[in-house]
Amino acid sequence: MSTGAHLASGKVREIYAVDDDTLALVASDRISTFDVVLPTPIPDKGRVLTGLSAFWFARTRHIVPNHLLEIRGDGRTLICRRLEMLPIECVVRGYLAGSGWKDYRETRAVSGHELPAGLAESVRLPEPIFTPATKASEGHDENIDEGRARALCGEDRYVAAKEAALALYRFGAAHAEARGIILADTKFELGVASDGTVVLADEALTPDSSRFWPASAYQAGGPQPSFDKQFVRDWCERTGWNKEAPGPQLPDDVVAGTRSRYVEAFERLTEVPFDDYVARPEAVL
Ligand SMILES: Nc1ncnc2c1ncn2[C@@H]1O[C@H](COP(=O)(O)OP(=O)(O)OP(=O)(O)O)[C@@H](O)[C@H]1O
Ligand SMILES: [Mg+2]
Repeated sequence: MSTGAHLASGKVREIYAVDDDTLALVASDRISTFDVVLPTPIPDKGRVLTGLSAFWFARTRHIVPNHLLEIRGDGRTLICRRLEMLPIECVVRGYLAGSGWKDYRETRAVSGHELPAGLAESVRLPEPIFTPATKASEGHDENIDEGRARALCGEDRYVAAKEAALALYRFGAAHAEARGIILADTKFELGVASDGTVVLADEALTPDSSRFWPASAYQAGGPQPSFDKQFVRDWCERTGWNKEAPGPQLPDDVVAGTRSRYVEAFERLTEVPFDDYVARPEAVL
């Protein structure tokens, strides 16, 4: 089976149509920070994203069906069911960080969830909250309240997506916490199959779609160090870059440091040595 016609390039992935009902999502080694793709790739990052997504897809079918059909031998290509995607990003937050923290500081609410006064940055929320966002084709996604998200999706689809996202977050957070990783927040994308079923799609619970924090260093009251992009983000900030394209070229030590964080997240979460995955991608299924 070939990968078929090229449909689109995301910031990180290439999308091909295998046939009318099937897509190939190929994760490159590109990395984006502040929504800008940097000129320097991170070797094996695409394999980490694809392997982790496949790992979670194989373990969460009891929560919600997903689009995974097959993982290719290159470790970066997922063959999946082609869906009609819901027009929202399904974000779940267990901790107050990123745009959630920003919105909270300005309005004491996130996507319409009123939160107690006086919360510190990175604090664990009393309960995980569903904070949907628009899918911006350009620039930053915007957090929206439940009413707008419901109107965009339709009632039944909205409820199914919200319940699935919250349950997936709880599953992923518990799995990660047992391995010393805090899943601060994460974004899911869901779609609708031809029979109307709401199905988990895209990538899932990867360092690109989530904030992973090492539990050992966790301390609320400021931003947290992380396994994922924070390292490269911090480096980018220190260069004084204005966060507009083109991004800065990464030095070798930043490339190596970023790669090792992605690989470490993969190995801790899957308990599969990364080299075993490269040799045999089905090892995560
Ligand atoms: N099963 C599926 N059926 C149809 N479309 C899908 C499916 N899974 C994922 N997609 C879509 O494929 C695209 C994946 O592209 P990708 O994530 O690389 O780029 P992007 O979302 O445009 O950019 P970025 O994620 O970097 O902000 C997304 O638009 C996503 O909604
Ligand atoms: Mg995307």
